[in-house]
Amino acid sequence: MKLTLNGRKISLDVAPDTPLLWVLRDTLGLAGTKFGCGQALCGACTVHLDGAAIRSCTTPVSAVEGRRVTTIEGLSKHGEHPVQVAWQQADVPQCGYCQSGQIMSASALLAANPHPTDAEIEAAMSGNICRCGTYNQIRQAIQAAAKIIRKEA
Ligand code: FES
Ligand code: FES
Repeated sequence: MKLTLNGRKISLDVAPDTPLLWVLRDTLGLAGTKFGCGQALCGACTVHLDGAAIRSCTTPVSAVEGRRVTTIEGLSKHGEHPVQVAWQQADVPQCGYCQSGQIMSASALLAANPHPTDAEIEAAMSGNICRCGTYNQIRQAIQAAAKIIRKEA
């Protein structure tokens, strides 16, 4: 099967029901996308499919055939995506485990809505669990990233 991964067209020879998460991590060696629950409950495995945030742990790789998948490794070349910049400025991560999923959900939200209210942020991010409780910093960083995207910062 063929797909576009982080801007590059690739071909894969894998069982069609393999979860996308394991294709990314095991077949392709992209370990930035994390396994948490395997049941679409924690958000650690979030990637973009045609620009929207999805849970790769419950997405069979057959569902992404011919489509555009972006992982944390492909969000920007050198960490210069506004969400990544804001994340660093706000010093968001604690243990870090949930953070690539958080960043992928946040960047999908801001691509669709560069003026999110706190309530919209909460709704968009509610499926991303952080055991370290970085939720306040995440919300602040998303608002800061939105300002960068709107060229107000
Ligand atoms: S590992 Fe996919 S949502 Fe938890
Ligand atoms: S930073 Fe540790 S789980 Fe979120």
